[in-house]
Order: sequence, then structure tokens, then C-alpha cells
Amino acid sequence: MSERLDGKVAVVTGASRGIGLATARVLSERGARVALIARTRSALDDAVATIGDAAFAVVADVSDPDSVRAAFAEIERDAGRLDLLVNNAAIARLHRVEDASDEDLAATVGTNFLGVLYCTRAAIPMLRASSGVVVNISSEGVRRPFPMLSVYLATKGAVELISYALGEELRADGIRVTLLRSGASTGGFAQDWDPEEGRRALELWKERGLLDFAGMPMPPEVIAESIVHAATRPPGVGVDLLEVRSSTPFPRHSD
Ligand SMILES: NC(=O)c1ccc[n+]([C@@H]2O[C@H](COP(=O)([O-])OP(=O)(O)OC[C@H]3O[C@@H](n4cnc5c(N)ncnc54)[C@H](OP(=O)(O)O)[C@@H]3O)[C@@H](O)[C@H]2O)c1
Repeated sequence: MSERLDGKVAVVTGASRGIGLATARVLSERGARVALIARTRSALDDAVATIGDAAFAVVADVSDPDSVRAAFAEIERDAGRLDLLVNNAAIARLHRVEDASDEDLAATVGTNFLGVLYCTRAAIPMLRASSGVVVNISSEGVRRPFPMLSVYLATKGAVELISYALGEELRADGIRVTLLRSGASTGGFAQDWDPEEGRRALELWKERGLLDFAGMPMPPEVIAESIVHAATRPPGVGVDLLEVRSSTPFPRHSD
């Protein structure tokens, strides 16, 4: 079965690095034109430059409904259609709930959960016209919650529920919704963590057996390939859930 996307248009949020950038790159290699969304213009321009002509940058903050509305209006004007929305943008700050600031809570829920709602809402009219696909990215941590990432993981739990609910709500429109539950990926949000806090969190997770559960991080391209698979099923075939996790054990000797 073909996994080509020639003539299709995709939007990937959080596409300036990590899983989002890998996804945008693989989608473009399969023939799609891809709008890359993120907040930081310079990083986004660099990302687009690595992909080439099939990619274009749309600066937007997914946690801001006006910014999202403007972004999707721009995409409709420029590309004229939309076949695939990948809700990938997320933040994962390390803190205990007790220590989270008001801003930590609002930014995490705003980006990771409301961002999915704002982007999906804005995309639905174009996706209805193309019998398109929405792919929402969750985390394996919903199955074995990692302390210090509770708020992040709670937003992923909400993303999981809204994915199934949206799948039902949009079925009659021919729009399919895939939930992709991802295991640990190399690079990614951990690079924003304070090294000392990151080290303490790793110790805690190791003690609790959570690193054994997660295994060695996978290259982001592995996740990107699974997104392409979900996006290229024929009309009438939906991939409701994909769980892609590392099967390589975390080395016991590493501290
Ligand atoms: N990395 C992992 O091990 C892992 C494991 C399981 C699941 N996941 C999930 O996979 C997805 C990608 O993770 P990642 O680690 O690849 O992410 P990442 O490297 O931290 O990249 C996050 C991207 O999102 C953008 N972003 C952040 N806030 C945004 C906002 N408000 N509006 C628009 N863009 C925003 C960032 O750019 P700007 O900051 O410039 O906006 C960046 O492009 C996330 O949904 C994450 O939960 C990751």
C-alpha cells in the first residue's frame, strides 16, 4: 500500500526540532507540502531550510487561540487545502505539583491540551473537505506516570481522551483521528531541563524502575514514520491508536 502524500498538505505543530521536525522532513520526502508551526522564527527558518521548497514556516503560539486562528487562515490562503494535522507541540517542565508556578500550570495545560483543541478546531473545515487525518501525540508516561512530570502527563491523558472523543465526533465528516503514544525519543524536551534537576529526576526514575520501563530513547524518525503510516491509510480506514516504544533496554551500568 502506498505511503506517498503527493499533492497533500500537512501541518506539523512544534516542528522546529525533535519529533516535529523529523515528521515534517519525512512527510516532505513522501511528497507532501508541509507547514511547520513553532513560536521561534529563527529556529523555524533554520528547520525549513533543512527541508527545502516543500516546507514553509508559520510562526504561531498554539496556546493562543488568536495566534492559531491567524496561522490556519494563513495556511488556507497559501496552500488552499489541508490533509493532515499533526498536533505535536508540547512542553514538559520538571517540577512537583506543589512547586509548580501559576505560569508553569497555565503554560503546560495551554500548550499541550488547549493547543490541541485550538489547532484541531481551526483545521476541521479544511480537513472535512479533504477527508483528512489528525494525529495527536501522547506519551508512554500515561501508563507508568513519571514523578516530576505529573502535570505534563495529565495533559497527555487529556489529549488521549479528546482523541478518542474527536474520532467519534468527526467520523461522519470522514475525518480520522489517530492517537500516537510515543516512547522516549532522543533530543527533544529534555535538552531544556536544568542539568542538575534533570540528573535528580533521572535518579528518581531509575530508583522506581521507570528507566527500565522506558528503555533507550529512539530516534525521532521512528515516530515520524509511524505518523506517515497513519496518514496514508485509504479513506474509510482509521488508525485509532499507535503505541511506539523502545525495545532496547536502558543500560544498567549508566549513572
Ligand atoms: N521527547 C520524548 O522523549 C517524548 C516522549 C513521549 C512523547 N513525546 C511527545 O512528542 C512531542 C514532541 O516532543 P519533542 O521532545 O520532540 O519536543 P521538543 O524537541 O521539545 O520540541 C517542541 C517543539 O514545540 C514547539 N513549541 C513549544 N511550545 C509551543 C507553543 N506554545 N506553540 C507552538 N509551538 C510550540 C517548540 O518550538 P518553540 O519553543 O520555538 O515554540 C519546538 O518546535 C510532544 O508532544 C511530546 O509530548 C516526546
